[in-house]
Amino acid sequence: LRRGPGPADLAGRHVLITAGGTREALDPVRYLGNRSSGRQGYALAATAAARGAQVTLVAANTDLPAPAGAEVVPVESAEQMHRAVLEARKGADAVVMAAAVADFRPVASAQSKIKKTGAGPEPLDLAVNPDILAEVSADRAHAGQVVVGFAAETDDVLANGRAKLARKGCDLLVVNRVGGGRAFGTEDNQAVVLASDGGSTEVPTGPKTDLADRVWDLVAERLTGT
Ligand code: CTP
Ligand code: CA
Repeated sequence: LRRGPGPADLAGRHVLITAGGTREALDPVRYLGNRSSGRQGYALAATAAARGAQVTLVAANTDLPAPAGAEVVPVESAEQMHRAVLEARKGADAVVMAAAVADFRPVASAQSKIKKTGAGPEPLDLAVNPDILAEVSADRAHAGQVVVGFAAETDDVLANGRAKLARKGCDLLVVNRVGGGRAFGTEDNQAVVLASDGGSTEVPTGPKTDLADRVWDLVAERLTGT
């Protein structure tokens, strides 16, 4: 399965990756969504497969060809992603959550298309979605499972990233600097990877596959001996 030079250091490993952006239905034709393209998650899947891993890719609303060697599980909403991840994580050596998950969903999804009444808009009642990353981190499927989150941050990116890493309880948090046209929908990505042991790794601007390979390097280090 290995394509090109480099280690097959993930051979015999099963990795679970989430990609894309969830959509939270308002009615049969409308949803609350976000701008995630899914490209970073697909790059993670392609590079993991190239390094020999068995790959499960839970993909939310992406419009990308399935990466060679990956099993794709399509989902739409955060609740569907939650169920798919809880199922697929059981045998996974690593769980890497690159998807943009909607924080909130409409309390109810109308069965029929919402119509203008002439009386102005109704307020939108929202409910909080499950925090999949925090749950997977707090309740590992087995000892030694490595859990990685992604975060897009503005302003004090490092301080925000450290706080989020602690709050989520994952092993690694890949922090993208966003704003000014960076990251969303672009080919290149630039990030700092923060580790729960205090480490941090700067990844310079480059293709999303380069960032993906750096993430797998850090995951592979943590898998040795398990
Ligand atoms: N995530 C998740 N479930 C959610 C929200 C986020 O699993 N309901 C995951 C994302 O897949 C990502 C990480 O958590 O790996 C960070 O997402 P982010 O939106 O930055 O975190 P939040 O805790 O929602 O913080 P914020 O208030 O900045 O949106
Ligand atoms: Ca969020």
